[in-house]
Amino acid sequence: MKLSNRTVVVTGGTSGIGLAFALNLLNRGNKVIVIGRNQATLDQVTHRHKGLIGLRGDVSNTNSVREMAAILRDRYPEVSILFNSAGIMRTFELMDDNLDLERTTAEIETNLNGTIWTTEALLPQLARQDEAMIVTVSSGLAYVTSPLHPVYSATKAGVHMFTDALRIQLRKSKTNIHVMELVPPLVAETNLLPGMQNGGIPSMSLDTLVKHGIKGMEQNKKRVVPGFSKILRFAGKYFPDTLSNAMARG
Ligand SMILES: NC(=O)c1ccc[n+]([C@@H]2O[C@H](COP(=O)([O-])OP(=O)(O)OC[C@H]3O[C@@H](n4cnc5c(N)ncnc54)[C@H](OP(=O)(O)O)[C@@H]3O)[C@@H](O)[C@H]2O)c1
Repeated sequence: MKLSNRTVVVTGGTSGIGLAFALNLLNRGNKVIVIGRNQATLDQVTHRHKGLIGLRGDVSNTNSVREMAAILRDRYPEVSILFNSAGIMRTFELMDDNLDLERTTAEIETNLNGTIWTTEALLPQLARQDEAMIVTVSSGLAYVTSPLHPVYSATKAGVHMFTDALRIQLRKSKTNIHVMELVPPLVAETNLLPGMQNGGIPSMSLDTLVKHGIKGMEQNKKRVVPGFSKILRFAGKYFPDTLSNAMARG
């Protein structure tokens, strides 16, 4: 898909992976709308990077998703790329004394429900374009579970499955919407888990991840699995416990 003169929506576009893709797409001559929950952060980011458009929204809240979709439909009916990057990661012990059910499911609401809800809400608008694209962001941890982050891997495995189902449904309904899953390995320069320990797992620079992702989008790839994510995907298939046990040791 040609990545210029388009209108692009990036959820989680105020930081890390989302922001890096948003800036790359802005520099290619696209109109780019970044979504995040925090108005002060949106203001800072749009002030620092002239041309980016900020839209406040929470992908983990159905009312907010409906509102965002209505605003996008009215103000930017030409949106043709949705890049679902909003995500959170939590480290916790399930045997903790505190029973904090909201904390336990927050990742489900943002990473999995948020991706599904935002995609579904924007589908009618995307289906009206001559050509459109939906990118989901899973993780190498969709393929091998990380015991220190017991719910995160489950949400990313869900994003992977949802993406495959979505692609096949859209193909059957004969829309011209490409669907790509980006499977990042550990990218240290983000705010996902400040001070994240890599546990010996190699990380990739944001710049390299963006190069892989943009190339995949241009070539309408189904899935982009760069760097260590390839190993995780392979290991998840043939010896999932070995890596998971190693990761449990931190
Ligand atoms: N960093 C890595 O190593 C890595 C590896 C594999 C996959 N990923 C995935 O890549 C994606 C981006 O992660 P990142 O590392 O770039 O994290 P990040 O730097 O923490 O950025 C997360 C972004 O998501 C936004 N966000 C969080 N919850 C939201 C919600 N409910 N509604 C709307 N926006 C929300 C944040 O803004 P606000 O907080 O202001 O809302 C921020 O803009 C995530 O899906 C993550 O799981 C990351």
